[in-house]
Amino acid sequence: MSAWAEARIRAGKRISLVPTMGFFHEGHLCLMRRAAQTADLVVVSLFVNPIQFGPGEDLDRYPRDMERDAGLAWKEGVAVLFAPAREAMYPELPQTRVTVAGLSEGLCGLTRPGHFDGVCTVVAKLFNIVKPATAVFGSKDYQQLAVIRKMTADLNWNIDIVAHPIVRDHNGLAMSSRNSYLSAEERRSALALVKAIDVARAMTGRGINDADRLLAELEIIIKMHDNVEIEYLTIVDSRNLQVQKNVDNQSLLAMAIRVGGTRLIDNAMLFEEAGEFQC
Ligand code: PAF
Repeated sequence: MSAWAEARIRAGKRISLVPTMGFFHEGHLCLMRRAAQTADLVVVSLFVNPIQFGPGEDLDRYPRDMERDAGLAWKEGVAVLFAPAREAMYPELPQTRVTVAGLSEGLCGLTRPGHFDGVCTVVAKLFNIVKPATAVFGSKDYQQLAVIRKMTADLNWNIDIVAHPIVRDHNGLAMSSRNSYLSAEERRSALALVKAIDVARAMTGRGINDADRLLAELEIIIKMHDNVEIEYLTIVDSRNLQVQKNVDNQSLLAMAIRVGGTRLIDNAMLFEEAGEFQC
């Protein structure tokens, strides 16, 4: 992969990287299309990164379908689908971890200790191997995007981090490979996230800006759905992920819930127009 990338860069080409864990859905394909707009060649990495999963998480059952993924990437005109074996990425137990303090600590960082270190470490390796000029990440993992932007700036990589809006299905559910774990009934419950975003936007549209009052209402609405447990439900400043007491035009509603055994996340800027993103 490195040799391929170096030869292309010497020939004056710019590479865009789309890091993924595979099991592609429309959201991934949108990232690939966006990547193609930002560079000459698109490299998609497919690697289910063991060091970003905690004990008891879904590393072993994470959905995989390499052949289907390869076909989809091919159709999108991707130059390389880089799918290294685990032993190739981690020939030995890595003793180095990339930690972005601060931004990694709240939200998902609270319940997934070490998760962002695992993400940053593998993304740092991918940046060094693929040497992209741009890298495209989805905004569903908003915290991941913020953490990777900070890592890229702090470590002086000359890589343009491109954020892609959340891609939702016709019901508004954010696309995720983990949606494949949901039964039909659980899918209905997962729409609690969509409902919460709609209600939060409606309330802020009516001038309610007290975060606690908004969150209390959203909690009731989410809990009306079967089989749902809230892991976090919060309003943060989208620039620094600090919890807010009063909403303003930087406010981001961020949520993680469990539906049955499946952990789902979603987020939305409170003052943005609702609506599906089509790519
Ligand atoms: O968002 C993901 O799929 C993963 O966290 C990433 C960025 C590919 C790193 O393993």
